[in-house]
Amino acid sequence: MTRISGITPSGHAQLGNYLGAIRRWAADGADGDLYFVSDLHAMTTAYHPQRLRSLARETLAILVAAGIPQDRVFVQSDLIREIGALTWVLECTCTYGEASRMTQFKEKSRSKGVQGVRVGLFTYPVLMAADILLQGATEVPVGADQAQHVELARALARRFNTTYGDVFAVPEAVTPPAAARVRDLAKPTRKMSKSTRDSAGVVALLDDPDVVRRKIRRAVTDEDGVANLLEILAACTGKSTDELASAYAGNEALKEAVTEAVVEQLRPMREGALALLADPASLDQVQAAGADMARRRGEHRLAAALRMAGAS
Ligand code: TYM
Repeated sequence: MTRISGITPSGHAQLGNYLGAIRRWAADGADGDLYFVSDLHAMTTAYHPQRLRSLARETLAILVAAGIPQDRVFVQSDLIREIGALTWVLECTCTYGEASRMTQFKEKSRSKGVQGVRVGLFTYPVLMAADILLQGATEVPVGADQAQHVELARALARRFNTTYGDVFAVPEAVTPPAAARVRDLAKPTRKMSKSTRDSAGVVALLDDPDVVRRKIRRAVTDEDGVANLLEILAACTGKSTDELASAYAGNEALKEAVTEAVVEQLRPMREGALALLADPASLDQVQAAGADMARRRGEHRLAAALRMAGAS
C-alpha cells in the first residue's frame, strides 16, 4: 500500500493544516507513504512566482520539521518534466465531459465566470491524477471535496490500462478518521485557510508567539468562536471539548489556555523549520534528495506509459 498526500503552498501553512493533516502525517506515516508540496497546483489562480517559490520552501521545511521523514517528502515542481509529460498523456485519456463534471471547478470558476479562469484550473484534477498515478499510489487520503478528483484518477488509470497496457495502480480515496477542523478566529463561520487575505483570524505555523497571542486574544467569542477555541484546545491537549468547556471561568481564561497550548504545540516544529530556512544549503539537500527519490519511484511507470501511449 502506498499513500500520497499533498499540501498546496497557496499561502502560509496554517494551524488547520497542522492539526488537521500535517501532525497526523508525521505520526502515522508508514513505509512507502509520500508527502509532497503541490506548488504546481498553486499556479491555477493568480500568483507571484517569487512568493510561490518561497512558500514552497517554507512548506517543505515545515513538513520535515514536523517529523515527516525526509526521504518521503518532495516538491512537485522538481518533477515538472515527469508530471508535465504524464499530465499530457492523461489529458488525452480524459474526456471533456469528465473534466466538466468536476464540481470544485464549477464552484471555483463561478465568481469569475469560466471565460476568465485559467485552463489549468479546469485541468487541475488531471494534474492531480498524474501526481497520484506517477507514484503508483494505491490510497489517497482526502476530504470529501477531493474525493471526486480521486475518482477521476481511478477512471483514467483504468482506461489507460485497458486501452494501452497495464501500467498504473488503480487508486482509491480513503477518508482519514475525523481530525480537528479549525475555523477562522475572526470569522468562525468559515474554515481557517492559508489563502484568506485578512490574516487576523489565521494562525500561520511560523507566526511569532506574540503574534499568535494577539490573534487568539482578538478571536471572536460568539457561540461558533468559543466552539472553535475549544476544538483547537481539544486538538492540542487530547482532552474532549465537553471536558474543556467547563474547565475555564470565562473567555479570557480560555483564550489564555488556547494561546499556551497552541504556542507549545507548534514550538518544536516552528523552531525546526526556522532553523532549516536559515540554512538554505541543508534545505537544498533535503529538497534534492526528495526529488531524486520521487523521480526514481516514478520513472519506470512514466517510461512505460509514454512508450505504450506512443509518445516516445
Ligand atoms: P490543501 O493544501 O488545501 O490542504 C492540505 C491539508 O490540510 C487540511 N486542512 C485543514 N484541516 C483542518 N482545518 C482546516 N481549517 C484545514 N485547512 C486545510 C486539508 O484537509 C488537507 O489534508 N489538493 C490538495 C493537495 C493535493 C493532493 C494531491 C492531495 C494535490 N495533489 C494528490 C492528494 C493527492 C490541497 O490543495 O490541499
